Amino acid sequence: MRIVLLGAPGSGKGTQTDSIIERYGVSTVATGDLLRAEVAAGTDLGQRAKPYMDAGNLVPFDIVLGMIENAVRKLAQSNPKGFMMDGFPRDLPQAEALDKLLDKLGQPLDAVLFIDVDYEEIVKRLLGRGRADDNEDTIRNRLRVFEEKTAPLIDFYTKKGLLHTIKGTGTVEDIGQRIRAALDKIA
Ligand code: AP5
Repeated sequence: MRIVLLGAPGSGKGTQTDSIIERYGVSTVATGDLLRAEVAAGTDLGQRAKPYMDAGNLVPFDIVLGMIENAVRKLAQSNPKGFMMDGFPRDLPQAEALDKLLDKLGQPLDAVLFIDVDYEEIVKRLLGRGRADDNEDTIRNRLRVFEEKTAPLIDFYTKKGLLHTIKGTGTVEDIGQRIRAALDKIA
């Protein structure tokens, strides 16, 4: 099973990841985690990415492309049960690049899960978490970036017949149950 988890910052993508891995045996990658690891290790890539992440903007594609391509290739080739991507693609150029790469690998996507949560709930959640980019100004900018760049992917994947919208409020278990209901049909 090959899936993308789509959702605004703080919609609960990371929170749902472990139970998806456990149930379906897929491998996963979160581009935000990869980037934070590069920042923590002080690599050239991390240093170039950090100012964008601190401001809540997308890191330019030419900076993240190589890292993401490697991660997707590894994912697509390492686990016959499939993979799940969290945090990628983030805009139309990334979605088109992903399509091309997966076509080349003969592994097209099976589904895109969009976790839908309203923005005021998200601001509350993220202010309670306290990651480096979880201050109010940066959160609001991340939401603006989501609206402008990432939300068009909802339409993009709807047209391809891949989109499943999951109501992202309620308990973590409630949301997990909705995700299972969607994924069991395609697993
Ligand atoms: P990234 O790491 O992807 O962060 P994000 O999109 O802002 O997403 P979050 O990790 O904040 O949210 P989440 O949906 O995983 O929610 P979570 O489960 O943690 O990206 C960070 C930055 O990296 C970007 O701004 C950009 O600069 C850069 N970047 C990353 N990918 C890139 C790419 N492809 N191209 C360019 N740049 C890229 O939950 C959030 C909180 O809510 C937690 O505290 C959790 O406990 C709580 N919570 C979860 N579910 C519930 C619930 N049901 N009820 C109550 N609270 C809940």
